[in-house]
Amino acid sequence: MSYIVIVGAKSDIAKATAREYAQNGYDIYLAGRNISELETFAEDIRVRSEKAVELVELDILNYASHQAFYDSLAEKPLGVISAVGYLGEQEKAQLDNQEAQKIIDTNYSGVVSLLNIIANDFEERRAGFIVGISSVAGDRGRKSNYIYGSAKAGLTAYLSGLRNRLYESQVHVLTVKPGFVATKMTEGMDLPEKLTAQPEEVAQDIFKAQQSGKSVLYTKWMWKYVMMIITSIPEFIFKKMSI
Ligand SMILES: NC(=O)c1ccc[n+]([C@@H]2O[C@H](COP(=O)([O-])OP(=O)(O)OC[C@H]3O[C@@H](n4cnc5c(N)ncnc54)[C@H](OP(=O)(O)O)[C@@H]3O)[C@@H](O)[C@H]2O)c1
Repeated sequence: MSYIVIVGAKSDIAKATAREYAQNGYDIYLAGRNISELETFAEDIRVRSEKAVELVELDILNYASHQAFYDSLAEKPLGVISAVGYLGEQEKAQLDNQEAQKIIDTNYSGVVSLLNIIANDFEERRAGFIVGISSVAGDRGRKSNYIYGSAKAGLTAYLSGLRNRLYESQVHVLTVKPGFVATKMTEGMDLPEKLTAQPEEVAQDIFKAQQSGKSVLYTKWMWKYVMMIITSIPEFIFKKMSI
């Protein structure tokens, strides 16, 4: 087997996904900011799985570095998984455009810049897979997080178009829409237990969905039905609701 690259590798979901892929025989490039902080984690995977794990520095907001980042990978990856994300503060983003821009750029523009480069290479090689972690928040805008949600909606539409474009090149694109996941991002939030996944469950779901060539994954699975209900509520009712 060979390498996959995991972007936003310090994320709890990304770390669980790295373990899942290494256990299943893949070598891993872990890419993120201040990535040397993951050295102990990387060594743990190396010892347990006997797979290669390499750390590569990447800031998704530094667009100018994306081509050089990809070119620096000695062996071109079989697949890419993007777990980069920034929830930010909705109320702050309503007042401060820097916060709004950071949410949009981290969840959408930065990811698009990097995936464009990787998609072009995969298309030319007529091989590879792309997994983008979006969110159920992108399925319908809500007052509590619509700036983050709109960036994720953009990412979901981007991944859909990319999947459509790359189909003929046999490059598979998976859109992941987690509901609630117990990670650093949701620390301190009061989340309903039955609807909240652990990062390890999400990682297993991603691996299975990617290997089987699925297009869109809701995780936990019941979020598909929760979002079906939420998106079917008429706007004149939805606008009065607090959900
Ligand atoms: N947790 C949930 O309930 C939930 C629900 C739906 C979707 N998601 C999505 O799932 C993905 C993983 O999130 P998570 O829950 O595992 O949260 P997390 O631990 O906060 O992960 C987010 C990751 O994005 C990285 N990141 C942020 N800005 C970056 C930048 N400029 N350059 C490179 N990396 C950057 C962070 O790196 P640093 O450590 O350097 O800050 C962090 O590792 C995200 O896309 C998130 O939006 C999460």
